[in-house]
Amino acid sequence: MVGSANVDLTTFSDRFPKAGETIFGEHFDLGWGGKGANQAVASRLCGADVTMVARVGDDLFGPATITNFQAQGIDASHVKVIPGVSSGVAPIFVESNGQNRIIVVKGANDRLSPADVDAAESVLGSADCIVLQFEIPLETVYHTVRFAKARGIRCIVNPAPALPIDIAALAGVDYFVPNETEAEAITGMSVRTIDEAGACARHLVAQGIGRVILTLGERGALLAHAGGVDVVPPFQVATKDTTGAGDAFVGSFAVFLGEGHAERDAIARANLYAALSTTGVGTQKSFVTRERFDEEWQTRATGAPSVRP
Ligand code: RIB
Repeated sequence: MVGSANVDLTTFSDRFPKAGETIFGEHFDLGWGGKGANQAVASRLCGADVTMVARVGDDLFGPATITNFQAQGIDASHVKVIPGVSSGVAPIFVESNGQNRIIVVKGANDRLSPADVDAAESVLGSADCIVLQFEIPLETVYHTVRFAKARGIRCIVNPAPALPIDIAALAGVDYFVPNETEAEAITGMSVRTIDEAGACARHLVAQGIGRVILTLGERGALLAHAGGVDVVPPFQVATKDTTGAGDAFVGSFAVFLGEGHAERDAIARANLYAALSTTGVGTQKSFVTRERFDEEWQTRATGAPSVRP
């Protein structure tokens, strides 16, 4: 995982305040976040050996973030503290319907350079898969894509949050995984209906992206490649907080695919892993263990009740 680490400061309220208005929130949650870190934790919980390449600040949050990676069993030897810089933080606001709005202050994440990726060559060079997001400098993302392709390593890019990009610099990625908002921002195309999502994903494929998985929240996910478009349906759950669901999808998908599951099956499993994450509050702390996932998959995908050994 080459990506960001943040501390999430999440406020839950009935609704969002209007401009100039003060309202009371219902409760507050402090947790580990950042799209890169979240995806690393999801992959680790799903059973992968994960190395994190990241930068944190020299404030209270930085060393604690490294300790959190270590506690999760993630190799943090390439997570370094940058003196004089704040760690990444994310004030998050969640409404009662589970929808969220996030402001990310990138802090030290913005210092992760192409040279830092090269310095991690000893571990990255032997990875089965490298996963990237957009909370680090884009030049580092592009460099890492080239790094992965030069070594024949599978590369998954989650373009979150959406930024204007040089699509040619990403043309070699194996999987490009935006949500609806990100796909709209990147292509300028509307993604309100499934047909529009298909057209948008096909447009990205036509621009040289190998395979596009457009995550559609409660409508599932749409896969597009040169051979066509396929919609993979969602799983119904009682949603409390959707924050981090996209990260749960990407981190788990990388593992399911790496385990050798067929692509559509890996997407279906990631749909379930992401859906389960929305039944809990917070980001990393809402991600389920592999054991819990396997029980749910057994019940929901096969219809058979799960049996605990
Ligand atoms: O995708 C959710 C994540 O976005 C949060 O953990 C927050 O830190 C931001 O990076």
